[in-house]
Amino acid sequence: MVNLNIKSKTSTQEQKKTSSSVIDNRMKEQAEVQLNLDNLSVFYGNNQAVKNVTMPIEKNKVTAFIGPSGCGKSTLLRTINRMNDQIRIARYEGKIMYDGINILNKDIDVVALRKEIGMVFQEPNPFPKPIKKNITHALQYMKMSKVNMQEIVETSLKQAALWDEIKDRLNDSALSLSGGQQQRLCIARALALQPNILLLDEPTSALDPISSAKVEDLIMELKEHYTIAVVTHNMEQAARISDNTAFMYNGDLVEYGDTSSLFTNPKEQRTEDYISGKFS
Ligand SMILES: Nc1ncnc2c1ncn2[C@@H]1O[C@H](COP(=O)(O)OP(=O)(O)O)[C@@H](O)[C@H]1O
Ligand SMILES: [Mg+2]
Repeated sequence: MVNLNIKSKTSTQEQKKTSSSVIDNRMKEQAEVQLNLDNLSVFYGNNQAVKNVTMPIEKNKVTAFIGPSGCGKSTLLRTINRMNDQIRIARYEGKIMYDGINILNKDIDVVALRKEIGMVFQEPNPFPKPIKKNITHALQYMKMSKVNMQEIVETSLKQAALWDEIKDRLNDSALSLSGGQQQRLCIARALALQPNILLLDEPTSALDPISSAKVEDLIMELKEHYTIAVVTHNMEQAARISDNTAFMYNGDLVEYGDTSSLFTNPKEQRTEDYISGKFS
């Protein structure tokens, strides 16, 4: 299930070529589903943070999760790669179907799962180690020693649009980078494991506007090869970078749809009130 092939430049070019063909455009209209959340509920003790959420996450698309603080966005995202397993009182009901399996099954290998479904958090959290080591650490841990480390370092940093800025200082501490660079390094670190899905929890909220814009551009580029789910409390950002949007309120999925319809023609009053700034 785990794909260790490095996505080469050639495949990017080939993909670009085919994506302009008529056949491919027709196929695009019927987006492929990468993940299916099926009646997903998440509890912390007696507090239900996510309530019976059913929705797809489409392949090679950016899906944004919006909604007021505390509505369950991070909980939902963390459930997708089983980060909530680390919280003793957390439990879930329902299913998350991925590649024909329910990833909430107890017998899932969560380390392998997190290799396929990578996650990046709000605060950049690079390891206090050299830049290069940040990329190679997990690969060594996963005993992927046969892969060409140098090539992966370069490819991941290029994919994260960071290579040109830091290629001459790969042995410097990651902590010497700016916040925006650190966040792109964290994205590169996730990409090094060749995931299929990237989960980004408010990836730009700790960044200055210029760094945020770089990370936004990056997200839009990465969707060519990855499926991306991003939590943001910045509605302009959701509108700019996502294809689909899920609006959550108090644990409920109030509305899910393609981003432009949801923002211009919301079906639910609560969605309209939220996007028009009546509450935050
Ligand atoms: N580790 C935790 N332990 C207990 N309750 C939590 C934990 N994390 C989040 N919650 C609760 O779950 C609900 C949803 O929180 P969260 O998923 O962080 O929302 P959001 O990301 O939308 O701000 C809140 O009521 C919050 O207090
Ligand atoms: Mg959150």
